[in-house]
Amino acid sequence: MEATANIENATGEKVEIMNDVVAQPNVDDIHETVGSPFCENAKMAMRDVQVYYGDKQAIFDVGLDIGKNEVVAMIGPSGCGKSTFLRCLNRMNDTIDICRVEGSLKLEGQDIYDPKLDVVPLRARVGMVFQKPNPFPKSIYDNVAYGPRIHGLTNRKAELDEIVETSLRKASLWDEVKDRLQSPGTGLSGGQQQRLCIARTIAVSPEVILMDEPCSALDPIATAKIEELIAELSENFTIAIVTHSMQQAARVSNRTAYFHLGKLIEVNDTEKVFTNPEHELTEAYITGRFG
Ligand SMILES: Nc1ncnc2c1ncn2[C@@H]1O[C@H](COP(=O)(O)OP(=O)(O)OP(=O)(O)O)[C@@H](O)[C@H]1O
Ligand SMILES: [Mg+2]
Repeated sequence: MEATANIENATGEKVEIMNDVVAQPNVDDIHETVGSPFCENAKMAMRDVQVYYGDKQAIFDVGLDIGKNEVVAMIGPSGCGKSTFLRCLNRMNDTIDICRVEGSLKLEGQDIYDPKLDVVPLRARVGMVFQKPNPFPKSIYDNVAYGPRIHGLTNRKAELDEIVETSLRKASLWDEVKDRLQSPGTGLSGGQQQRLCIARTIAVSPEVILMDEPCSALDPIATAKIEELIAELSENFTIAIVTHSMQQAARVSNRTAYFHLGKLIEVNDTEKVFTNPEHELTEAYITGRFG
């Protein structure tokens, strides 16, 4: 597409230039998310979410539902607020002193920012997998048993053994580690460590799993394994995943949310977002014009 623009040159003279990219809309003028940010069977429902770091606002008026057993991908240019928004969903931003979250964020209708709510059980219900695999400096077994122990799910050895095995199986890691459960988790390969972290997260039977670029440190084979796993996990869990890989978003998610400068621009079925995006900013991003 071509467009012309009148600009002043260095000597103040008016000149007409040809642009091959049409000027993008001013983000200050965007007040509504296009598409389908809400759904009928919401597991988590967020409304009018604002997030500030000190005086600087990082998230503006975001409203989004994450449906039961749905995988929602969050995409957008670096710094647009994907991690910030994801961290709101299990109050991980509480650990950042200057961060302030406003708005309504509910899990099964319950306000997760209720001052009376204990965040420890919340983070068991809404688990998180980080970009960099971060196994504890403990054995493979103890990494997975850690959550069930601290949340008091069981202290019977046989039950714990079973939770560890089932979690490692669900994370597609059991066959690779079953003969060395007492070896350190940190001795595994990067892809195995990430699957160990997923096993650790699912060991406490969360309802929602948040993943922030879980494959960015992994090779294509390990990435493919995690993607397969996400597909399997979505049968039992609700998943929100931040990714810089549009192929990954397209492969694993049901709906895709496009963020831009702290605003949620568009949410639609993933196929629609990648084949026929509704908003011009989404289109510009997925066609590689910025980001
Ligand atoms: N701990 C923090 N303190 C102050 N500002 C922060 C902090 N974390 C993020 N920000 C700011 O909030 C905005 C959104 O950052 P965020 O990390 O959420 O973006 P992102 O979309 O996850 O980016 P990336 O794709 O690079 O991970 C940025 O302007 C960033 O500088
Ligand atoms: Mg991020």
